[in-house]
This record gives sequence, C-alpha cells and structure tokens, in this order.
Amino acid sequence: MVTASAPGKVYLFGEHAVVYGEPAVPCAIGLRASVTAHEREGGLRIRADDLSLSGFTVEYDGDSNNRPDIDAPDSLVEAAMGYVDEAVAQVRDAADAPDAGFDITIESEIPLGAGLGSSAAVAAAAIEAGTRELGVELPSEEIAERAYQVENTVQNGQASRADTFCSTMGGAVRVEGEDCQPIDSPDLPFVIGYDGGAGDTGALVAGVRDLRDQYDFAADTVEAIGDVVRRGERALAAENVTEIGKLMDFNHGLLSALGVSSRTLDSMVWAARNADGLGAKLTGAGGGGCIVALDETPETLTALEYTPGCEEAFRAELDTDGVRVET
Ligand code: PMV
Repeated sequence: MVTASAPGKVYLFGEHAVVYGEPAVPCAIGLRASVTAHEREGGLRIRADDLSLSGFTVEYDGDSNNRPDIDAPDSLVEAAMGYVDEAVAQVRDAADAPDAGFDITIESEIPLGAGLGSSAAVAAAAIEAGTRELGVELPSEEIAERAYQVENTVQNGQASRADTFCSTMGGAVRVEGEDCQPIDSPDLPFVIGYDGGAGDTGALVAGVRDLRDQYDFAADTVEAIGDVVRRGERALAAENVTEIGKLMDFNHGLLSALGVSSRTLDSMVWAARNADGLGAKLTGAGGGGCIVALDETPETLTALEYTPGCEEAFRAELDTDGVRVET
C-alpha cells in the first residue's frame, strides 16, 4: 500500500491571458490531496472521504453505470471518479500492467472546483501512488505529463498544463504555451478567501475570447496581463514581496475589466486591500471561488472572515514540495 500526496495551487499572475500565449505564474500551496493505492485482484474501487469542505464518501466499483447514489453535487462525484479512473489508466500504461486492480482512497484538504487545483493534485498523487504500488518509479516530468493527460481527457481537451505541472513540481512555476519551468520564489504569506462557489471555466474563457475578438482594448488588456506577469517574475526573482502585492492588485483590475470577477470576489479583494494587505486578486477562472491575498499580519484573514459572501478564509504558505510519497 502506498500513499502519495500533491499540493493545490493559486495563480499569482496570468490566468486567462495564458490561454493566448502569455506567461502565467501559478504557485503550489500547503493544502494537499492524498491518494492511497492498494493493489487488488482486478477492477477498481474508489473511496473518497472528506473531499471538499462539506465532505462525503464514495464507494465505486469502476463501472460508470453503477454510480453510487450519494448526497453530493455531480461535479464532486465526477471529480472522485473521472480523475481517478483516468489516473489509473495512466498507471496501468506507465507500469505496462493493463490488468492491475486497485483500492484507491482519496483524502483532500483542497476545496473542489474552487480554482485551487484539486483535480490536478488528485491526478498527480494517484499516478505517483499507483505506479509506486506496482514498483515503478516515474520521473516527475512524466508524472506531470501523465497528470496533464488525465485532466485533458476528463475536461474534453480543455486543460492547460499549469495546474498539473505546478502540483507535480511544487513551488512557483512559469507556464508559457507548452513550456513549463520551475522558478525561484521567496516564501509568500498567502491568505485565501473562498466564497463557497465556483465559476464556469468554459463560459468565462469564452467570454474573454469574445471580448478580445470584439475590442482591440480587450486584446490590449490581455497583453497588459502578460506585461504584469513579466514584471511579476522579476519581482519574484528579486524577492520583492511589496512589488508582488502591487502587481497582484493590478492583475485583478485587468481581470475585472475582462469581466471574470464577481461581486463576492471583488468584496473579498477589497476587504484584503482595506486591511492593508500587500495585494489581492482572484485566482483561477473567476466568476466565483477564491481570491488570494498576501499578508503577514492577521488583519487580512480577520477582515475576510467578516466579509459578507466569504465562506472560508485560511492561510496557506507556498509549498515547495510537489508530489511525494507519504509512506
Ligand atoms: O480555475 P482554474 O484553476 O482551473 O484555472 C483556469 C485558468 C484559465 O487560465 C482561466 C484557463 C486555463 O486553462 O488556463
């Protein structure tokens, strides 16, 4: 039996613009998904405890016609099953063991569908746990690539490499097209606010595409995000946390102009700014979900806890550990 874990992530800079070839910088955070793989005689059984903040349990025999009747949104059930099904297919392929069977248990501290990369973390951890259980040790680049294939299959060709590469490698990474590189970053005191919801990534990406096609200034806004990211990379290299915060504020303004913020995301961003945090922005597709702020003092966390619409607020340090074996 092998347990592996992988971290979730926030976008420090560059979501949406990354879709048009601009660079983006996601950062792994110290909230992890753990997957335990135990080889068994054929088939696949998945157990998922406490996925999402509400928590639920799934028992699944691998046959999609036998989906269990459980009191949880479909998207959560899909997350538990679709990603693990595909990850196990990758494990069988990587280990050249087409008939290998597994009992899989998932535990996750990462809220699902909130832009924190929960599915990428589950995919990377499942591939690491499954292959190790079969006695195969994959290089991290291969885990990242296979985890990307999992997301891309489950999301019908709509995945970027950002989440899976970041979750596999840990730390801060730079993604530009297919080019993914780890980069240096100082410790960053993240505070995350979560409104309990999630945006529709496909619809939000399509909305930005329409604006960009319709207005030159929207295309300029996308390019301006790219400029913010390049500045942000220099600020990270210089360990200039004040500048990183300012650039996060600017990045949020540009995302807002592209129509992907929401009332609760804006409220949380403004609460963080009014608490004198270093900077704040939405993270991920937007429309709902999470904001990420930078603050070493307790003020931003407290302010978020009292912000109407903020369901959960928590601290998360940058996590330099990517996917790792736990036992
Ligand atoms: O919400 P997330 O973490 O899946 O991020 C979406 C990021 C986008 O740039 C909006 C889309 C993408 O595939 O890069």
